[in-house]
Amino acid sequence: MSTDVISSPPQTVRVRIPAGAANALCQVRPIRSGMASAEVVVRGRRVDIETSDEGQVLFPTDVGLTLLTALNADPALPVAGARALDIGCGSGLYTVALAMAGAAHVTALDVNPACADVTRDNAARNGIRPAQIATIVGDLAELKVAEPWDLVVCNPPHFPHDPVYVANDGIEAALVGGSDGRALYDVLLARLDELLAPGGTLLLTHSSLTDIPRTRQTLRRNGYECRTVQVCELDIPMRRYAKHRDVLLSRLYRLRATERAVFRGLRFEVHTLASTRIDSLNGSGE
Ligand SMILES: C[S@@+](CC[C@H](N)C(=O)[O-])C[C@H]1O[C@@H](n2cnc3c(N)ncnc32)[C@H](O)[C@@H]1O
Repeated sequence: MSTDVISSPPQTVRVRIPAGAANALCQVRPIRSGMASAEVVVRGRRVDIETSDEGQVLFPTDVGLTLLTALNADPALPVAGARALDIGCGSGLYTVALAMAGAAHVTALDVNPACADVTRDNAARNGIRPAQIATIVGDLAELKVAEPWDLVVCNPPHFPHDPVYVANDGIEAALVGGSDGRALYDVLLARLDELLAPGGTLLLTHSSLTDIPRTRQTLRRNGYECRTVQVCELDIPMRRYAKHRDVLLSRLYRLRATERAVFRGLRFEVHTLASTRIDSLNGSGE
Protein backbone atom coordinates (compact mmCIF):
# COMPACT_ATOMS: atom_id res chain seq x y z
CA MET A 1 0.00 0.00 0.00
CA SER A 2 1.58 3.33 -1.03
CA THR A 3 0.37 5.30 1.99
CA ASP A 4 1.87 6.80 5.13
CA VAL A 5 0.18 5.68 8.37
CA ILE A 6 1.05 8.29 10.97
CA SER A 7 -0.57 7.10 14.25
CA SER A 8 -2.58 4.23 15.72
CA PRO A 9 -5.57 3.65 18.11
CA PRO A 10 -6.76 4.71 20.61
CA GLN A 11 -5.74 7.97 18.90
CA THR A 12 -7.25 8.78 15.53
CA VAL A 13 -5.28 6.95 12.86
CA ARG A 14 -3.98 9.29 10.16
CA VAL A 15 -3.37 7.99 6.65
CA ARG A 16 -2.07 10.04 3.73
CA ILE A 17 -2.49 8.81 0.18
CA PRO A 18 0.07 10.70 -1.94
CA ALA A 19 -1.22 13.17 -4.55
CA GLY A 20 -1.80 11.50 -7.91
CA ALA A 21 -2.10 8.00 -6.43
CA ALA A 22 -5.33 6.15 -7.22
CA ASN A 23 -6.46 2.73 -5.98
CA ALA A 24 -3.79 2.98 -3.32
CA LEU A 25 -5.78 0.95 -0.78
CA CYS A 26 -6.38 -2.16 -2.85
CA GLN A 27 -4.68 -4.35 -5.39
CA VAL A 28 -6.33 -3.76 -8.78
CA ARG A 29 -6.02 -6.51 -11.39
CA PRO A 30 -6.00 -5.97 -15.17
CA ILE A 31 -9.49 -5.84 -16.70
CA ARG A 32 -10.47 -9.33 -17.90
CA SER A 33 -13.49 -10.05 -20.15
CA GLY A 34 -14.93 -6.61 -19.35
CA MET A 35 -14.68 -7.22 -15.59
CA ALA A 36 -12.66 -5.00 -13.26
CA SER A 37 -11.43 -6.70 -10.11
CA ALA A 38 -9.77 -5.66 -6.88
CA GLU A 39 -8.37 -7.44 -3.87
CA VAL A 40 -8.20 -6.05 -0.35
CA VAL A 41 -7.18 -7.71 2.91
CA VAL A 42 -9.61 -7.17 5.79
CA ARG A 43 -8.75 -8.47 9.24
CA GLY A 44 -6.40 -11.02 7.71
CA ARG A 45 -8.83 -12.32 5.07
CA ARG A 46 -8.46 -11.64 1.35
CA VAL A 47 -11.60 -10.13 -0.20
CA ASP A 48 -12.02 -10.31 -4.02
CA ILE A 49 -14.48 -7.91 -5.63
CA GLU A 50 -15.51 -7.71 -9.29
CA THR A 51 -17.73 -5.29 -11.18
CA SER A 52 -18.40 -4.90 -14.87
CA ASP A 53 -16.01 -2.34 -16.32
CA GLU A 54 -18.78 -0.52 -18.20
CA GLY A 55 -21.51 -1.24 -15.69
CA GLN A 56 -23.92 0.54 -13.41
CA VAL A 57 -22.21 -0.47 -10.16
CA LEU A 58 -19.37 1.55 -8.65
CA PHE A 59 -15.97 -0.17 -8.62
CA PRO A 60 -14.47 0.19 -5.10
CA THR A 61 -12.75 3.55 -4.65
CA ASP A 62 -10.12 4.65 -2.14
CA VAL A 63 -12.88 6.66 -0.41
CA GLY A 64 -14.91 3.50 0.26
CA LEU A 65 -11.87 1.43 1.08
CA THR A 66 -10.95 3.76 3.96
CA LEU A 67 -13.72 2.17 6.04
CA LEU A 68 -12.02 -1.20 5.64
CA THR A 69 -8.59 0.17 6.54
CA ALA A 70 -10.23 1.63 9.66
CA LEU A 71 -11.59 -1.84 10.51
CA ASN A 72 -8.05 -3.17 10.15
CA ALA A 73 -6.55 -0.35 12.21
CA ASP A 74 -8.94 -0.74 15.13
CA PRO A 75 -9.66 -4.35 16.11
CA ALA A 76 -12.02 -3.06 18.83
CA LEU A 77 -14.61 -2.13 16.19
CA PRO A 78 -17.27 -4.77 16.81
CA VAL A 79 -17.83 -7.13 13.87
CA ALA A 80 -17.66 -10.72 15.19
CA GLY A 81 -21.16 -12.09 15.71
CA ALA A 82 -22.85 -8.82 14.69
CA ARG A 83 -26.04 -8.50 12.68
CA ALA A 84 -24.98 -5.83 10.23
CA LEU A 85 -26.68 -3.49 7.75
CA ASP A 86 -24.66 -2.26 4.75
CA ILE A 87 -26.41 0.86 3.44
CA GLY A 88 -25.62 1.58 -0.22
CA CYS A 89 -23.87 -1.76 -0.68
CA GLY A 90 -22.70 -1.07 -4.28
CA SER A 91 -20.44 -3.96 -5.29
CA GLY A 92 -20.98 -5.61 -1.90
CA LEU A 93 -17.50 -4.69 -0.75
CA TYR A 94 -18.48 -4.11 2.89
CA THR A 95 -21.06 -6.91 2.95
CA VAL A 96 -18.46 -9.45 1.89
CA ALA A 97 -15.73 -8.01 4.15
CA LEU A 98 -18.01 -8.02 7.23
CA ALA A 99 -19.24 -11.55 6.55
CA MET A 100 -15.65 -12.75 6.17
CA ALA A 101 -14.65 -10.90 9.35
CA GLY A 102 -17.22 -12.89 11.32
CA ALA A 103 -20.49 -10.95 11.19
CA ALA A 104 -23.36 -13.35 11.91
CA HIS A 105 -25.51 -11.88 9.13
CA VAL A 106 -25.31 -8.90 6.77
CA THR A 107 -28.24 -7.15 5.09
CA ALA A 108 -27.13 -5.30 1.95
CA LEU A 109 -29.38 -2.41 0.89
CA ASP A 110 -29.09 -0.35 -2.29
CA VAL A 111 -31.43 1.84 -4.29
CA ASN A 112 -29.70 0.64 -7.49
CA PRO A 113 -31.14 -2.80 -8.42
CA ALA A 114 -27.92 -3.84 -10.20
CA CYS A 115 -26.10 -3.77 -6.84
CA ALA A 116 -28.10 -6.68 -5.40
CA ASP A 117 -26.93 -9.09 -8.12
CA VAL A 118 -23.33 -7.88 -8.02
CA THR A 119 -23.28 -8.16 -4.21
CA ARG A 120 -24.61 -11.74 -4.33
CA ASP A 121 -22.04 -12.64 -7.03
CA ASN A 122 -19.21 -11.17 -4.99
CA ALA A 123 -20.40 -12.95 -1.85
CA ALA A 124 -20.42 -16.27 -3.72
CA ARG A 125 -16.98 -15.53 -5.22
CA ASN A 126 -15.62 -15.23 -1.67
CA GLY A 127 -17.32 -18.37 -0.38
CA ILE A 128 -19.98 -16.63 1.75
CA ARG A 129 -22.96 -18.89 2.51
CA PRO A 130 -26.12 -17.49 0.87
CA ALA A 131 -27.88 -17.63 4.25
CA GLN A 132 -25.30 -15.26 5.77
CA ILE A 133 -26.45 -12.31 3.64
CA ALA A 134 -29.69 -10.77 2.40
CA THR A 135 -30.03 -8.16 -0.34
CA ILE A 136 -32.74 -5.49 -0.44
CA VAL A 137 -33.37 -3.13 -3.35
CA GLY A 138 -34.79 0.15 -2.09
CA ASP A 139 -34.29 3.65 -0.77
CA LEU A 140 -33.09 3.95 2.84
CA ALA A 141 -35.84 6.54 3.40
CA GLU A 142 -38.43 3.79 2.88
CA LEU A 143 -36.69 0.81 4.47
CA LYS A 144 -38.98 -1.17 6.80
CA VAL A 145 -37.11 -2.10 9.96
CA ALA A 146 -38.35 -5.32 11.59
CA GLU A 147 -35.36 -5.71 13.92
CA PRO A 148 -32.59 -3.11 14.35
CA TRP A 149 -28.95 -3.95 13.65
CA ASP A 150 -25.85 -4.20 15.88
CA LEU A 151 -23.63 -2.62 13.23
CA VAL A 152 -24.58 -0.21 10.44
CA VAL A 153 -21.98 0.71 7.79
CA CYS A 154 -22.33 3.30 5.06
CA ASN A 155 -20.24 5.14 2.47
CA PRO A 156 -22.72 7.70 1.09
CA PRO A 157 -22.49 9.60 -2.21
CA HIS A 158 -20.67 12.87 -1.49
CA PHE A 159 -20.70 15.12 -4.60
CA PRO A 160 -23.20 17.99 -4.96
CA HIS A 161 -25.75 17.65 -7.74
CA ASP A 162 -25.59 19.63 -10.96
CA PRO A 163 -27.79 18.87 -14.00
CA VAL A 164 -24.72 19.31 -16.23
CA TYR A 165 -23.07 16.14 -15.01
CA VAL A 166 -25.83 14.00 -13.58
CA ALA A 167 -26.73 11.06 -15.81
CA ASN A 168 -29.63 9.38 -13.98
CA ASP A 169 -27.76 6.09 -13.78
CA GLY A 170 -26.25 3.84 -11.11
CA ILE A 171 -22.95 5.68 -11.04
CA GLU A 172 -24.70 9.00 -10.42
CA ALA A 173 -26.65 7.37 -7.56
CA ALA A 174 -23.32 6.22 -6.15
CA LEU A 175 -21.49 9.54 -6.35
CA VAL A 176 -24.00 12.41 -6.30
CA GLY A 177 -26.05 13.21 -3.20
CA GLY A 178 -28.42 16.14 -3.67
CA SER A 179 -27.66 19.88 -3.80
CA ASP A 180 -25.03 19.72 -1.05
CA GLY A 181 -23.95 16.07 -1.37
CA ARG A 182 -25.59 15.23 1.98
CA ALA A 183 -28.81 13.55 0.83
CA LEU A 184 -28.02 10.05 2.13
CA TYR A 185 -26.15 11.33 5.22
CA ASP A 186 -29.26 13.26 6.27
CA VAL A 187 -31.67 10.34 5.79
CA LEU A 188 -29.31 8.08 7.71
CA LEU A 189 -29.04 10.50 10.65
CA ALA A 190 -32.83 10.96 10.74
CA ARG A 191 -33.40 7.18 10.90
CA LEU A 192 -30.46 6.11 13.05
CA ASP A 193 -32.50 5.50 16.23
CA GLU A 194 -34.66 3.01 14.31
CA LEU A 195 -31.73 1.31 12.59
CA LEU A 196 -29.38 0.72 15.54
CA ALA A 197 -30.05 -1.77 18.33
CA PRO A 198 -29.13 -0.64 21.88
CA GLY A 199 -25.32 -0.67 22.12
CA GLY A 200 -25.05 -0.82 18.32
CA THR A 201 -22.45 1.06 16.30
CA LEU A 202 -22.66 3.18 13.16
CA LEU A 203 -19.47 3.12 11.10
CA LEU A 204 -19.63 5.93 8.58
CA THR A 205 -17.33 7.06 5.78
CA HIS A 206 -17.57 10.86 5.96
CA SER A 207 -16.19 13.10 3.23
CA SER A 208 -14.93 16.54 4.20
CA LEU A 209 -16.87 17.80 1.14
CA THR A 210 -20.13 17.13 3.02
CA ASP A 211 -19.89 19.09 6.28
CA ILE A 212 -18.50 16.73 8.91
CA PRO A 213 -19.18 19.21 11.79
CA ARG A 214 -22.90 19.19 10.94
CA THR A 215 -23.03 15.40 11.21
CA ARG A 216 -21.11 15.38 14.48
CA GLN A 217 -23.41 18.05 15.97
CA THR A 218 -26.52 16.15 14.89
CA LEU A 219 -25.20 12.93 16.39
CA ARG A 220 -24.31 14.67 19.65
CA ARG A 221 -27.69 16.41 19.82
CA ASN A 222 -29.39 13.05 19.29
CA GLY A 223 -27.45 11.47 22.16
CA TYR A 224 -24.68 9.68 20.28
CA GLU A 225 -21.02 9.51 21.20
CA CYS A 226 -18.95 10.02 18.03
CA ARG A 227 -15.32 8.94 17.70
CA THR A 228 -13.07 9.61 14.70
CA VAL A 229 -11.36 6.28 14.10
CA GLN A 230 -9.35 7.35 11.07
CA VAL A 231 -8.65 10.40 8.92
CA CYS A 232 -7.43 9.71 5.40
CA GLU A 233 -6.11 12.54 3.21
CA LEU A 234 -6.39 11.97 -0.54
CA ASP A 235 -7.23 13.55 -3.90
CA ILE A 236 -10.84 14.46 -4.68
CA PRO A 237 -11.78 11.49 -6.90
CA MET A 238 -13.25 13.32 -9.89
CA ARG A 239 -12.19 10.84 -12.58
CA ARG A 240 -15.84 10.14 -13.49
CA TYR A 241 -16.46 13.88 -13.77
CA ALA A 242 -13.26 14.88 -15.54
CA LYS A 243 -15.33 16.45 -18.35
CA HIS A 244 -17.31 18.49 -15.82
CA ARG A 245 -14.46 19.27 -13.49
CA ASP A 246 -14.99 23.07 -13.55
CA VAL A 247 -18.72 22.82 -12.80
CA LEU A 248 -18.15 20.35 -10.00
CA LEU A 249 -15.36 22.44 -8.52
CA SER A 250 -17.41 25.64 -8.70
CA ARG A 251 -20.17 23.88 -6.71
CA LEU A 252 -17.59 22.74 -4.17
CA TYR A 253 -16.11 26.28 -3.94
CA ARG A 254 -19.59 27.60 -3.10
CA LEU A 255 -20.01 24.99 -0.37
CA ARG A 256 -16.55 25.80 0.95
CA ALA A 257 -17.37 29.54 1.04
CA THR A 258 -20.20 28.75 3.49
CA GLU A 259 -18.02 26.33 5.49
CA ARG A 260 -19.93 23.26 4.34
CA ALA A 261 -17.01 21.69 2.48
CA VAL A 262 -13.33 21.49 3.39
CA PHE A 263 -10.61 20.90 0.80
CA ARG A 264 -7.35 22.47 -0.27
CA GLY A 265 -6.42 22.43 -3.93
CA LEU A 266 -7.68 19.00 -4.96
CA ARG A 267 -6.95 17.43 -1.56
CA PHE A 268 -9.68 16.53 0.91
CA GLU A 269 -10.20 14.17 3.83
CA VAL A 270 -12.32 11.12 4.51
CA HIS A 271 -13.10 10.54 8.19
CA THR A 272 -14.26 7.16 9.47
CA LEU A 273 -16.69 7.95 12.29
CA ALA A 274 -17.85 5.37 14.85
CA SER A 275 -21.01 6.34 16.74
CA THR A 276 -22.91 4.71 19.57
CA ARG A 277 -25.86 5.93 21.60
CA ILE A 278 -24.63 7.19 24.97
CA ASP A 279 -27.58 5.72 26.89
CA SER A 280 -26.74 2.31 25.47
CA LEU A 281 -23.07 2.81 26.38
CA ASN A 282 -24.19 3.34 29.97
CA GLY A 283 -26.23 0.15 29.90
CA SER A 284 -29.54 2.04 30.12
CA GLY A 285 -30.66 1.51 26.52
CA GLU A 286 -34.37 1.61 25.82
C1 LIG B 1 -20.41 5.73 -2.72
S1 LIG B 1 -21.36 4.34 -3.20
C2 LIG B 1 -20.77 3.13 -2.01
C3 LIG B 1 -20.77 1.71 -2.55
C4 LIG B 1 -19.99 0.71 -1.68
N1 LIG B 1 -20.49 0.69 -0.32
C5 LIG B 1 -18.52 1.07 -1.67
O1 LIG B 1 -18.06 1.65 -0.66
O2 LIG B 1 -17.85 0.82 -2.68
C6 LIG B 1 -22.97 4.78 -2.52
C7 LIG B 1 -24.04 3.70 -2.74
O3 LIG B 1 -25.24 4.17 -2.11
C8 LIG B 1 -26.35 3.88 -2.94
N2 LIG B 1 -27.43 4.81 -2.57
C9 LIG B 1 -27.51 6.13 -2.86
N3 LIG B 1 -28.62 6.66 -2.33
C10 LIG B 1 -29.26 5.66 -1.67
C11 LIG B 1 -30.47 5.57 -0.91
N4 LIG B 1 -31.23 6.65 -0.73
N5 LIG B 1 -30.82 4.40 -0.37
C12 LIG B 1 -30.04 3.28 -0.57
N6 LIG B 1 -28.88 3.31 -1.29
C13 LIG B 1 -28.50 4.46 -1.82
C14 LIG B 1 -25.81 4.02 -4.35
O4 LIG B 1 -26.58 3.35 -5.32
C15 LIG B 1 -24.40 3.46 -4.21
O5 LIG B 1 -24.34 2.09 -4.50
